[in-house]
Parts: sequence; C-alpha cells; structure tokens
Amino acid sequence: MCNAGSPCSAVITGAGAYVPEKVMTNEEWSKLVDTNDEWITTRTGIKTRYFAPEGVYTSHLAINAGRQAIEDAGVNPEDIDLLIVATICPDRPLPSTACFVQHGLGLTNAACFDLVAACSGFVYALDTAKQYILAGSAKRVLVIGAETMSRIIDWQDRSSCVLFGDGAGAVVVERVDEPGKGILSSKIGANGGLSELLRIETGGTAEPLTHDNLDERRQYVKMEGNVVFKHAVRNMSEIATKAVEAAGLTLEDIDWLVPHQANTRIIDAVGRQLGIDASKVVVNIQKFGNTTAASIPLALKEAVTDGRIKKGDNVLIVAFGAGLTWGSSVFRWEK
Ligand code: UT7
Repeated sequence: MCNAGSPCSAVITGAGAYVPEKVMTNEEWSKLVDTNDEWITTRTGIKTRYFAPEGVYTSHLAINAGRQAIEDAGVNPEDIDLLIVATICPDRPLPSTACFVQHGLGLTNAACFDLVAACSGFVYALDTAKQYILAGSAKRVLVIGAETMSRIIDWQDRSSCVLFGDGAGAVVVERVDEPGKGILSSKIGANGGLSELLRIETGGTAEPLTHDNLDERRQYVKMEGNVVFKHAVRNMSEIATKAVEAAGLTLEDIDWLVPHQANTRIIDAVGRQLGIDASKVVVNIQKFGNTTAASIPLALKEAVTDGRIKKGDNVLIVAFGAGLTWGSSVFRWEK
C-alpha cells in the first residue's frame, strides 16, 4: 500500500504511438459521400486520417504502440504486471483484445483486461492504472488506447464517417517510492442517461445481429453530433478544472493541455473556457481525425517526441465521449 509509512506515486515512464500507413484524405471521402474538404476542414479541423488495411486490426495497432512505450520506459515485457486496453473496437467479442495484446507483446506476468469508455477510455484507463499502483496491487502497468474506427463507422453516413481515424497510443505507468511525483490527480465521470446520443444499436445482447438490422446498417456508430458537441465543451471544461484543483495547482501552472481530439472547435472552446492559451494546446486532429481512446496518447507522444513537452512540465489531459463519459488528469512529465 502507498501510505504515510510507505509513500509512493504513479509515474508515466514511457510512451508510444502507432498509426497505420494508409492515409484517407477529405478529397477521398468526397468521392464516396456528399461532402467536401471545405466543410470537413471548417467544421472539424480534420484534413486526413489513417485507416488500417485489410488484415490489420486493433490488437496489431495496440501491440505496435505498446512495444514502443515499453522500450521508451527501458523495461522488459516480463516487468509489466498489468495491461489495460481501452477500446470500443475489439478484435472479437470474446476474448478481450487485451489478451491478444498480452500474448503479442510477451507480457507473461501481466493480468489484462479491456476497458470500455469510448473517447474517455484512455483517461479512465490511466486513472485505473494509478489506483492499482497506489493500492499496491501493481508495480508497472501498460495502458493502451487503440481503435480501428474505420471498421465500425458507417461509410455511407457523411455526418459521422469523415470524423474518425484508426490508431493507438500507449504509456507505461510505474510505482515510484516517493510522494508527489507523476500523476497528481485524476477525475472521471459519466451520465448514462444520455447514452442514446452516441451509440451502436445492434450486435450486443439487447439486439443481436440479424440480416434485417445489418441491412438497416444499425451495426455502425450513430451520433447526434450537435448535442454531443455542447455536452463535450461543458463537461470537458468542468472536469479539467476539478482535476487541476485536485492536483493542488491552478490553471496558470499548466504547461500543456492535451485534449481529446474530436473537433478543433471543441478544443478551442475548452481552451478558451479554461483560459489556456492556444500555444499551450496540443492539436493533431488535422492529421489523424478522432481516434477515440487513442487520441490523447497519440497527441502526448507527438508533443514529447518533438520536444514541446519537457521534463518537469505539468500536463493536463481531458476527454469526453459516448456514455456519456468524461475524465481528466494532471501529471508531471518526469522523463
Ligand atoms: O469524440 C467523442 C464525441 N464526439 C464529439 O465530440 C463530436 C461532437 N460533434 C461535432 O464535432 C459536430 O457536431 C460535427 C462535426 C459532428 C457536426 O458539426 P455541426 O456544426 O454540429 O453540424 P450539424 O450536425 O449541425 O450539421 C450542419 C449541416 C447539416 O446540413 P443542414 O441540415 O444545415 O442543411 C448537415 O446535414 O452540415 C451537414 N453535414 C455535412 N455537410 C457536408 C453533416 N455532415 C456533413 C458532411 N459534409 N460530412
């Protein structure tokens, strides 16, 4: 246990990211549905996204990102004692995608499970990793957000298909026997009463797949975008404020905001509400689109690799997604 007698922290010690090679441009979408580059760019900020080619799926993306995070942390696969894969695009309904990833990475000493919290999945998984570590139940946790959204979007629905991309991001979270390091706070929340706003209707036990519902294309993501947008701005701003307070910091102490990448207009509005200057906000949605649980670790890895996020920086992450779910965390970058 992490207590007064044995103080400890949960610290991110490595990060990794992976996107498949196949780029999909707005122009390509405009040949498939009634849309255009101008609408997608001005309404979302997205220019391109990457899609997994046939035969490549969520566990493959997760394994690539996870391997990089383990190497970056300078540890061995056997040193990982817990793996959490946040995804809404499992390889199969059974078993968990985490089991495929555990095997693929050779994490022979790790228990593993999937975590479903949609676009908030990475923040939920990071919070879970922190709790395991602080409770003394794990020493080194691999957290991965991985999605193959191209397989669950409706390629005929212009209101949602242009938004999403495939990818994976990962971090290693380790116990450090010193208080006040690494993850300083994490807050998560949900409102299941609004579950209909962003959903897949069929394929579960409520409505098993039938020829009829497949013909009706009910196996794909559906979203009331406009309503979700408003909830996103409000909830992301509120939960981020709470996470900063819980970390014992003020918003002026935040060096970098790494938000979920759903829409540049959402990101701008959240930045404005928090009073964080746009120069401190990491945005890469133009390249990758909305990669759901992968979006925050993808953006984090990019900003660490290009030298924006440096040792000692206070990083605020915040996400929002189907459920509805939301979450935020503040951590000090210790590498
Ligand atoms: O990641 C987790 C949670 N997800 C989000 O946070 C996403 C939140 N929502 C959004 O980002 C935005 O609501 C969207 C980008 C999805 C849509 O933007 P919007 O400004 O809310 O547009 P809208 O849905 O109100 O649609 C405006 C118009 C409609 O036409 P009419 O009815 O005004 O004639 C749509 O039919 O834009 C039309 N439209 C399109 N036009 C061209 C919708 N999709 C497209 C499209 N291309 N792809």
